[in-house]
Amino acid sequence: MTVNPDRVQWTLDSAHTSLREFWNTSATWFNASPGQRTPALVAHLLTGLEERKQRCQRVLDLACGAGRTTRAIHQELRPTSGTAGVDLSDVMIRAAREESSQTEALAVSFHEAPAQALPFHDESFDLAFCNLGLMIFPDTTAALREVRRVLQPEGLFRATVWGREEHTTLVTLMPRVASSLDIALERPARSNFHLGSSDALASAAVGTGFVLSEARPVALEFPFDNGSDACNQMGISMESPSPRLAGLAHAERQHLVDGCEKEADRLLDLSHGTLTMDLLIGEFRPCA
Ligand SMILES: C[S@@+](CC[C@H](N)C(=O)[O-])C[C@H]1O[C@@H](n2cnc3c(N)ncnc32)[C@H](O)[C@@H]1O
Repeated sequence: MTVNPDRVQWTLDSAHTSLREFWNTSATWFNASPGQRTPALVAHLLTGLEERKQRCQRVLDLACGAGRTTRAIHQELRPTSGTAGVDLSDVMIRAAREESSQTEALAVSFHEAPAQALPFHDESFDLAFCNLGLMIFPDTTAALREVRRVLQPEGLFRATVWGREEHTTLVTLMPRVASSLDIALERPARSNFHLGSSDALASAAVGTGFVLSEARPVALEFPFDNGSDACNQMGISMESPSPRLAGLAHAERQHLVDGCEKEADRLLDLSHGTLTMDLLIGEFRPCA
């Protein structure tokens, strides 16, 4: 199928509409965090691409959020025809455009679209990335097919997904504490860890025009000053709560925030002041 990017039309089903709402509401706390995790994540995402860097022309960053990762990838690879970031959330895309300097704006563009309807011609990119997005898409197959369509036959797609749930204290903190306090939180339709094994990534590629060429585990530790600092950066606060918390009554929310801060303090004591993030970087190559 050949796509004219000026004519791409898309409508959102209910799963995508609520996902967009979720990320539009999450943008405030997500973008307020200092972004100290981005350099480490980008360094792992780009490992071993030195040779491709020499001949890199155009790069896609899917689920780009407010563009922190997009800009870091662009600065590292310097593709001759620029970098495009795409995100479902209009609030994220507005923030990404606002945060770009004028110089950057010439080479880095941001586009509002769902992963399954990318506003680009076939074979537009030689490299594509997706940092912490693939595992939350409602339709992984449709997204992979679409990335394959816009990627050149010799291209490469790398996606960072959550790895082992039990080693990701940073994001399991709130649901674990909520469950121990008997507080019902809204949950995603399926676990955000569902792609966290090489088997799961390989199965996701079936029928998409990609094969999984590598699944590289990465374990990261991030330092925090104390439990309150960690919670603030994860949207576990009274002032700027993540949407899952915002739906709770005031007293219940306070109870959960207090519980999370206490638990984060305990975890930080046990692990020398850090919380952990277990990731898997899937590398996909177009099938021959
Ligand atoms: C965890 S954030 C990651 C943001 C960014 N990659 C980063 O590294 O900071 C996940 C992003 O995926 C986006 N997203 C979720 N579902 C999407 C979809 N179907 N198509 C495009 N973007 C999507 C959200 O709007 C959100 O900005």
